[in-house]
Amino acid sequence: MTRSLVILAAGQGTRMNSDLPKVLHPLGGVPLVVHALRAGAVLEPARVVVVAGHGAAQVRAVVADEDPEAVVVEQTEQLGTAHAVAQARAALDGQAGDVVVLYGDTPFVGAETLQALADARARHDLVVLGFEAADPGRYGRLVMAGEALARIVEFKDATAEERAIALCNSGLVCADRAVLFDLIDAVGNDNAAGEYYLTDIVAVARARGLSAGVVRCAEAETLGINTRAELAAAEAALQARMRAQAFDDGVTLVAPDTVFFAADTVIGRDAVIEPHVVFGPGVTVESGAVIRAFSHLEGAHVSRGAVVGPYARLRPGAELAEDVRVGNFVEVKNAVLEAGAKANHLSYLGDAHVGAGANIGAGTVTCNYDGVFKHRTEIGAGAFIGSDTMLVAPVRVGAGALTGSGSVITEDVPDGALALGRARQETRPGLAARLMARLRAAKAKGGKG
Ligand code: UD1
Ligand code: CA
Repeated sequence: MTRSLVILAAGQGTRMNSDLPKVLHPLGGVPLVVHALRAGAVLEPARVVVVAGHGAAQVRAVVADEDPEAVVVEQTEQLGTAHAVAQARAALDGQAGDVVVLYGDTPFVGAETLQALADARARHDLVVLGFEAADPGRYGRLVMAGEALARIVEFKDATAEERAIALCNSGLVCADRAVLFDLIDAVGNDNAAGEYYLTDIVAVARARGLSAGVVRCAEAETLGINTRAELAAAEAALQARMRAQAFDDGVTLVAPDTVFFAADTVIGRDAVIEPHVVFGPGVTVESGAVIRAFSHLEGAHVSRGAVVGPYARLRPGAELAEDVRVGNFVEVKNAVLEAGAKANHLSYLGDAHVGAGANIGAGTVTCNYDGVFKHRTEIGAGAFIGSDTMLVAPVRVGAGALTGSGSVITEDVPDGALALGRARQETRPGLAARLMARLRAAKAKGGKG
């Protein structure tokens, strides 16, 4: 069965009270709409259409980054979810098969659930995903007629009796493309919100003699995010899931509640994550690596046997080979550290390549930015960079070379050479005592030195 996917992402999300479009708020470091795209991908959709409105240009950019083939259409006025789906009509013109509608603010729907929803079309003309809510709150309610779905009533329009129904609408719908758009054409906006509700297609379908059914899933999968509090609750749920997954994967989390993952964090077996570690998007930590306390990683790869932190920061493009050491107050950005390289204290390594076994002394800085351009620093295998060396890029320090502590290195250093780039020390015997005596005498006379 060919299927297409429509993701509704045009709403302003007024209750978020934000300039950022609701669907771009991050959950596990990944925008909500990207969660929806990834969830929908399990259906292997022939075409993906995202309906954007508020912040459409931003939404378009994020969607293109995740799925360049997805079509983004605009809903210039947010007249309701049915009106939003109608905007996808032209983009789906001529597509055979079913359409699954997914809301961009509902990030947790699982692969099996989506598959069950799509498969249930074999039994019904129209299928809606529902769930029993512990606290149904403001969700739309599913009004059943025996085993069949009679209609959906929005919270705003529901009677007290209908509000007592615990079976709620997740927002996911599946129907044949042509049928879906026909039903949408018949939806009006005579309701409490004055909107064209997608949910009204159920009553329309029934009036036309079509069948409507419900596929049920766990409430956790259908959490719809409308407020900052709901976003925070979703984040907590995601983190709980990621921590449980890490345990299943054989990862040691010493204090799990203090470790924060991104939705795409990958951690290998027997890795150890100490307390208070934060993972941004795009991090892979291989088996047996140790991330010590209070470290922050994003867009980084940490190989086997490497030790990071405490208090280390790995930024995008940090590539740590096996047995690398990156210690306290070291920042690494867009830099490769080859096997066994060490930067144990107080350093910035940006736009750099550090050869195997090189030792980066405390306080070393790659001066990579001239205010306009970024430049690279190359450090050869086995080089020894003395403490407090400023490497003014572009610059290359050869294999096995050595730089003196406190050097400002502005010229390339050949393999095996020693480079000193600092003022020579002058030592004057006895001068300290004489100088102090003079100052004390001046003070005794009431002078200011
Ligand atoms: C919707 C459902 C409700 C369901 C709940 C589940 C309707 C009418 N109601 O309510 O039954 O229980 O989701 O979470 O469908 N959107 C557009 N254009 C619009 C309006 C909305 O693209 O004109 C998008 C929003 O960005 C959002 C999604 O559609 O991603 C749902 O809209 P929202 O306003 O959040 O609907 P709810 O009131 O939560
Ligand atoms: Ca919603």
